[in-house]
Amino acid sequence: MHPMLNIGIRAARAAGNVITRNMDRVDTLQIDQKARNDFVSDVDRGAEAEIINVLKKSYPAHSILGEESGWIGDAEAEYKWIVDPLDGTTNFLHGYPYFSVSIALMHKNRLDQAIVYNPVSQELFTASRGDGAWLNSKRLRVSNTAHLDKALLGTGFPYRTGQDLDFYQRTLRHYTEKSGGIRRAGSAALDLAAVAAGRLDGVWLVGLSAWDVAAGALLVREAGGLLNDFSGGDTWMDGGEVLAGTPKVHHEMLQVMKPLIKSRDKIASK
Ligand code: IPD
Ligand code: CA
Ligand code: CA
Repeated sequence: MHPMLNIGIRAARAAGNVITRNMDRVDTLQIDQKARNDFVSDVDRGAEAEIINVLKKSYPAHSILGEESGWIGDAEAEYKWIVDPLDGTTNFLHGYPYFSVSIALMHKNRLDQAIVYNPVSQELFTASRGDGAWLNSKRLRVSNTAHLDKALLGTGFPYRTGQDLDFYQRTLRHYTEKSGGIRRAGSAALDLAAVAAGRLDGVWLVGLSAWDVAAGALLVREAGGLLNDFSGGDTWMDGGEVLAGTPKVHHEMLQVMKPLIKSRDKIASK
């Protein structure tokens, strides 16, 4: 195993311990609201502090982008960790047991290592560039699903101020009509891990930040899936929109998306 992946796993497990220790005492946590429907608790902050601590101990020269801390170190560094200490905070705060720790390492601006850890099920999804994607010790492949009408899709609803709900609803309508079913589970990192594991055949996600998607993207690609932005382009890391799936489902999903993007662009240019 790549030594940096190993340290990333150690950091994810340390964060997972903070999360599970606090699962039964959500009522006593200090919870702050960053924006409408955007909460942060002591657990998000505590889990991120554990991750930073572990990473800094082994790699003091590496930079870290944490959801709660922002950049620590140089955003242009050779090695950059991208951290979401608790992906699925809303689920966590409601005792809905589906959330994760997401940690990715970029080397020279390429995704190199990825960890998505579900501390409740203790499923550890990992990927190293060129070395495949893994669930615990099992190698992952995306599913063989070849057609959208048989595909189970995952998604993330927009729920924050300023998001384009009308556009999203059009995508939901089309995928509802054309797919085999849709799930909204509440952790983008686990949604992408589910594509890598063949549990979902595709996903389309909105309102994302780099820390929501970085680790999951490497998992999908190392498991043989495809991942892009909604136009089939490469703005997915910082552009907020991600579409991923098995090669064939990804293709069909993009075909459905194309006219919707075109009409969105037309409305925007008016
Ligand atoms: C959120 C979750 C959710 C997605 C949101 C994310 P957070 O992350 O991944 O599934 O729909 O866009 O912001 O805030 O729980 O870390
Ligand atoms: Ca997140
Ligand atoms: Ca988070």
